[in-house]
Amino acid sequence: MCGIVGYIGPKQAAGFLLEGLSKLEYRGYDSAGIAVFDGEKINVTKTVGRLAVLKDQLKNNMPQGQIGIGHTRWATHGRPSDVNSHPHTDCTGNFVVVHNGIIENYLDLKEKLIEKGHVFVSETDTEVVAHLLEEYYDGDFEGAVKKVLAAIEGSYSLVFMTKFDPDKIICSKKDNPLVIGLGQGENFIASDIPAIINYTRRTYILSDGEMAVVTKDSVWVMNRQGVPVSKKVFEVNWDAEAAEKGGYEHFMIKEIYEQPKVIRETMSGRLAKDNSEIIFDELKWTKEDLVGIKKILITACGTAYHAGFVAKYFIEQLARIPVEVDIASEFRYRTPLVDESTLAIVISQSGETIDTLAALKEAKRLGARTLAVTNVVGSSIAREADHVIYTWAGPEIAVASTKAYTTQLVSVFMLALYLAGLKEAIAPERMKELVAGLKNLPAQAHEVLDDVEPIKTFAEKYGFSEDVFFIGRSLDYAVALEGALKLKEISYIHAEAYAAGELKHGTLALIIEGVPVIALATQSDVYDKTLSNIKEVKARDAVVIGIGFVGDKQLEKYVDHTILIPRTEKYLAPILSVIPLQLLAYYAAITRGCDVDKPRNLAKSVTVE
Ligand code: F6R
Repeated sequence: MCGIVGYIGPKQAAGFLLEGLSKLEYRGYDSAGIAVFDGEKINVTKTVGRLAVLKDQLKNNMPQGQIGIGHTRWATHGRPSDVNSHPHTDCTGNFVVVHNGIIENYLDLKEKLIEKGHVFVSETDTEVVAHLLEEYYDGDFEGAVKKVLAAIEGSYSLVFMTKFDPDKIICSKKDNPLVIGLGQGENFIASDIPAIINYTRRTYILSDGEMAVVTKDSVWVMNRQGVPVSKKVFEVNWDAEAAEKGGYEHFMIKEIYEQPKVIRETMSGRLAKDNSEIIFDELKWTKEDLVGIKKILITACGTAYHAGFVAKYFIEQLARIPVEVDIASEFRYRTPLVDESTLAIVISQSGETIDTLAALKEAKRLGARTLAVTNVVGSSIAREADHVIYTWAGPEIAVASTKAYTTQLVSVFMLALYLAGLKEAIAPERMKELVAGLKNLPAQAHEVLDDVEPIKTFAEKYGFSEDVFFIGRSLDYAVALEGALKLKEISYIHAEAYAAGELKHGTLALIIEGVPVIALATQSDVYDKTLSNIKEVKARDAVVIGIGFVGDKQLEKYVDHTILIPRTEKYLAPILSVIPLQLLAYYAAITRGCDVDKPRNLAKSVTVE
C-alpha cells in the first residue's frame, strides 16, 4: 500500500513528484523518494521518515529534469530504512523502478540474479525488478519491461524509467491501482487520483495486465500480449477529499471494500502452490523450535483482542496447543503464570498500543518467547517481539478497524496451520483443503460485498433501535463480539454479544418484542444448538437477522431476515461473516448521522494508558 507518482513533460518533474506524493501520504509514510533524469544520469534521493524529511533534504538541492518517478512507502518486505526506500535501482543506476504491491517470487529471482553477479543493497522484493530490467535490457526498453512482467509473480503497480530511453516512462499493474493523468504536452502517473487532480481531471485507469508507454505527448496502452488497447478517458469529478477516499464517502467503507485485496495480499507468497503447507519466510521454524512450548498466550486490545479470541479456536483445534487469550490491560496487572514454556503472541494493527506493548514486555521479562502479529513494519511492537508476522492490510485510517481485523484472522489462521504442520497434527489432505479454502476467500469476500442492498435496508429499518444483541456459538460467538463492538463504536447503539448458550443465564430477560438480535449460524458442529437459541429469542418476539451460508433453508425458516455468505470451511467463516456486520455498523451509523471515520471519544491508536 504505497503511493506512486511519475511525470514527463516540459516542467521540472520534482515539483509535481513532491506535491503528488504529499497527496498520497495517507497510503504510506514510513519513507519516501524520487528519481529524476537530468539529461546525463538519474539522480535518486530517498530517505526513511515522512515526506517532510525528503523535502528537507532536497530544499537546497532540488534535482533538475523533466522526467521522474517518486514513491511514498508503507513497508512490507524490509523495515523502513534509507536503502529499503524507493525508487530502487539496478547495479549501474541506469534503471529505476517504484513499486506498490508484493513480488511473491522475489527470493527465487534474487538468488538467480545474484548468481549472475547482481549486487543487492536492500531487503526489498522490489529491488529484483530493477536488476531484472538491467538483465533483460538489450537496447529495447519496452521489450525488457515485457520480459520483467513475464518473470514476476504477485501483485503490483510498477513504474519504470531508464536513462537509455529518457523520453518515456513505462508502467503496468496487477491487483494494485494505477492511473495516468492526461495533460497538454505532459503526462502524469499515479497510484491514486488525489495525486493528479490539481493538474488534470482526464485520466486513463489501467486494468490488470495492461502496460502503458507514456511520453510527454502520447500514452500507448497495450495488453499482456502486446495488443494495443483503446482506453476510454475517465473524467474525474471528485473533489480532493473524495479522491483521497477513492470516491467513497468515508475511509471506513473504502477499507471495508479493500478487504478482498488485502486478504489476498496477506496470503501472498505464504501459501504453497500445491496447497501442502504454509510458508512463513519470516519464521522459518522447525519442529524442534516448538519443543518445550506448553502453551500459547495471546494478548491484545479491542478488535485485535477479538482476533485473538478467534485464534484460540484455530490454534487449539488445528495445532492442539492450549491457548489462553487475555486483554492486554488485564494481563499486565494480574501477575500471570508465564515462563519459558510459553509462546506469547500479541496482535496489534498499529503496533503501538501501549497496553499490548507492555504485555509483550512483561511476557518477555517472564521468559516467554514472543511473536507479534502487526500491520506496521518497524512499529514498537514489531521491534520488541522476537518474531513478527505482518498483516499486509496497508494503512488503516478509519478509527473502526475492519481490514486489519480480517487480515489478522487470515494471519492467525495461517499461523495455526503452520504450527499444525510443524507438529504433524494435521493430515496432509486436510491441510490441502484448508489452504484451498483460503485461496477462495478473496473472491468470496467480493461476493459478500456485492450483496450490500439488504444490509442497507436493515440498517435503515433498525438503525434507531436502542439495543441490539449479537449471538452465536463457537467461532460465531467470537465474530459476534466483533460485530457488537463495530456497531457500538460508530453508531453509538448499545450492542452486546453473547455466547448463545449463555442466554438462559440472564440475558434472555432483556429480549423483548422488537429487539433486533443478530444470530450467527455458520458453525456446523453447534448449528442445531444455535437454532434452538434462535427459537428462544423468537419466542420472546425479538426480530432476528440470521447470518448463515447460502442455501441454508433451515435458518430461513426460523428467522425474520437472512444475510447469506458463500459456503466455506468452518474456520474461514468468520472472515466472511464479519463483513456484513461491518457493513451493518457502517450503514446504521450513516442512518443516525454519526461521524463514521472519527467516532466520539475514540482514537485510532491508543498510546496512553
Ligand atoms: C476497534 C478498534 C480498536 C483497536 C484497538 C487495538 O475498531 O480499532 O479496538 O482494535 O485499539 O489497536 P491495535 O490493533 O492498533 O493495537
